[in-house]
Amino acid sequence: MPRSTGTCVTTTTLGEPIRAFVPHPLPPAAPPLAPTCFVDLNRQAELALARLAGVSGLVASVDWLLYSAIRKEALLTSQIEGTQATLTDLFDEEAGLEVGNIDDVEEVTNCLRAFRWVQGQLRDPQGLPISVRLLCEAHRLLLDGVRGAGKQPGELRRSQNWIGGTRPGNAAFVPPPPQQMADLLTDLERFIHAADADLPPPLVKVALIHVQFETIHPFLDGNGRIGRLLIGALLEHWGLLQQPLMVLSGYLRRHQAEYYRRLSAIRTEGDWEGWVSFFLEGVAVAAADAVRSIIEVASLITADRKRLLASTKAGPVSYRLFELLPMMPRFSVALVRQRLETTFPTASAAIHLLEDLGIVAEITGQKKNRVYSYQAYVELLSR
Ligand SMILES: Nc1ncnc2c1ncn2[C@@H]1O[C@H](COP(=O)(O)OP(=O)(O)OP(=O)(O)O)[C@@H](O)[C@H]1O
Ligand SMILES: [Mg+2]
Repeated sequence: MPRSTGTCVTTTTLGEPIRAFVPHPLPPAAPPLAPTCFVDLNRQAELALARLAGVSGLVASVDWLLYSAIRKEALLTSQIEGTQATLTDLFDEEAGLEVGNIDDVEEVTNCLRAFRWVQGQLRDPQGLPISVRLLCEAHRLLLDGVRGAGKQPGELRRSQNWIGGTRPGNAAFVPPPPQQMADLLTDLERFIHAADADLPPPLVKVALIHVQFETIHPFLDGNGRIGRLLIGALLEHWGLLQQPLMVLSGYLRRHQAEYYRRLSAIRTEGDWEGWVSFFLEGVAVAAADAVRSIIEVASLITADRKRLLASTKAGPVSYRLFELLPMMPRFSVALVRQRLETTFPTASAAIHLLEDLGIVAEITGQKKNRVYSYQAYVELLSR
């Protein structure tokens, strides 16, 4: 007999009776979570996170690494949702350059803003703790703008929703009725802040909490993105990864069908164990990917720095420009002028020097409105 992970309640929506799912409070019980599903994988995942925290010392500033890591995470979590933007679009938008799919880019930058805001709250002694209120405020930032209008940004849903299908009657999953949400969310908050020695290790709790949040599905839209943002917030809150250097959404996107299937299997088959193993494996893989990427970025920057140092023509402005590149991989002359507070000829000369050294390249082929790219770096990050 598989364990029961919730109860079904019948409600009426759009004129037809439907069965909505109300999850039991965490942690899994009857039977409790089998330790075999997490003991080894948890150790491996924690080790991978520790290695990731340790490798950031390879570059001059951890901000360089964070710059790309949080953008990749925002991009990939939005891509799970179907957003079409690319990393280059994000870099271009920030550099004030022209970008195509501006709505998609806005969706990603909203995600970035929501994420940073949450991080600011957690680091501020006066900030909000991890709570429903925090998530509502993050949701408000996430759904700010054109696409979010009509989706009640910042507010818990007041109507029945469903996942998959054209109506609740043929949906893949019908989350709990809105009247039950307040209690369910209170239980979830309580679980997050419980100081109970019997609970599973923190990474496993993160896995459980993500599912519970998705199962409650408290917003009209954006539940996937807020639920994944919650993962990052919990990793920091519990000291598992102090800096958001991991791109877990990359793993979830590569395994999106399995991700959704395993979420469903908890409800339909009581299979918490399968999900927990999948999640821990994902953390280990994503952290190892991030370590590899950081080593590659560090090697690239070091090699280019050596080329610059070997050049007899490099002036002070070239060096200053070089230090900007990891956080300004695409740029115009005007942007360099502004960032280095220098003249047009001086900015141009510094760019041309880096161009001659093969570090940056002009990418438009135009005579005017030229755009430069730290192309090897952009390609490395976009892989
Ligand atoms: N069968 C399922 N059971 C529970 N949760 C699910 C199931 N299938 C998908 N989900 C979760 O619901 C999310 C989608 O919900 P919603 O559209 O509100 O969020 P979103 O942020 O707009 O979308 P997305 O995940 O598509 O980015 C998925 O990302 C996943 O986390
Ligand atoms: Mg959606």
